[in-house]
Amino acid sequence: MTIPIPAEDPRHVPNRAVIDPSAITENTRALGTLLEEQTALMAVVKADGYGHGMLTAARAAIEGGATWLGVAHPASALALARADLDAQILTWLFEPRTARTVLPEVLSQGVDVSVGSPEMLALVSEAARQAERRARVHLKIDTGMGRNGVLPWQIREMGAAMREDEHIQVAGAWTHLTSADDPDDPATDQQVELYDSACAALADEVGPIPLQHLANSAATLTRPDLHRDLVRTGIAMYGYPPVPTDVPLRPAMTLTSRLALVKEVGEGHSIGYGRIRSTDRRTRLGLVPIGYADGLHRAASDQCHLVVRTDSGDHRAPQVGRISMDQIVIDLGPDSDARAGDQVFVFGDAGGDPNGPAASTAEDWARAAGTISYEVLTSVSGRVSREVR
Ligand SMILES: Cc1ncc(COP(=O)(O)O)c(C=O)c1O
Repeated sequence: MTIPIPAEDPRHVPNRAVIDPSAITENTRALGTLLEEQTALMAVVKADGYGHGMLTAARAAIEGGATWLGVAHPASALALARADLDAQILTWLFEPRTARTVLPEVLSQGVDVSVGSPEMLALVSEAARQAERRARVHLKIDTGMGRNGVLPWQIREMGAAMREDEHIQVAGAWTHLTSADDPDDPATDQQVELYDSACAALADEVGPIPLQHLANSAATLTRPDLHRDLVRTGIAMYGYPPVPTDVPLRPAMTLTSRLALVKEVGEGHSIGYGRIRSTDRRTRLGLVPIGYADGLHRAASDQCHLVVRTDSGDHRAPQVGRISMDQIVIDLGPDSDARAGDQVFVFGDAGGDPNGPAASTAEDWARAAGTISYEVLTSVSGRVSREVR
């Protein structure tokens, strides 16, 4: 399936983010094997399913055993709810102006909402009154992230307010870990301590808390003691574990393009803005019509490898020179048989010989750019069509 974007017909552009939903399904299943029976798995499909397509990712994860879907924006929650998927949905990030219009409908659809401040509680309560139903609320506790969430000293006051509000039903209490991708960092245990005492105080006010959850991918992989009632996995489900692991996970996105031209140049030929690279021998250069406007990070220039599929097979070729807005250059080597039109793999699984040459991974591109795989995946821009394999 190709999702067209306005103004440009994707049939006329070679760049594709090819999504393999079976990778998401199998990754989800593999993560599920780490969980005790009483622990549910929430597939985090915010940011358009980390760039993979929210509905595609959600359906694939449900097939792999996810029974929850998590998104930041209520608008995403609404789109999920309308798709009538077999999973409970949680949304956690909204502000008053847009929330006033969207939250009543979100609640009408049976979506759970997070509350991270007294003002958010008031908004949700009002929306629930309008929707004529009780809102299922997960109280977000700020245990050190310093973003969304009530502070531990506010717990009793929030608990009392929720208990006394006929439009509110406490469905859960949750927090988000700052440093779970570094298992040696004591910050995680400090957060857990704060979280546990906040949950005890909340339970004092409202009774037993149905769902406690705090584990992201890293904590799901490394801290079984933090699985509690629900884990919220994002990046690992898309095939990029944030910590070393034996759990078999494979990338679900492959970014591809096609060579626009191939030309032979002599030694000392400069390539790209700023001339950060010149050829060190006679060679053949391939022009690939994909650049930072498609989501490649310019900071990753001149560090990664692509794979070109030619008549003679798959060949690894370094990306050379600065990444431009719409194009990059790869060094095909002096004897390459590559021709304009040949397929190029920027990252992901080329789907050829498993022992054959591999393109850099999204993790490699991230490292080269000084960022994380999350940003590489979610940066693939709207002008790159998603194609579900
Ligand atoms: C609140 C929340 N929970 C869970 C996740 C999933 O994190 P990860 O992708 O590291 O598994 C995210 C993503 O950033 C998040 O914002």
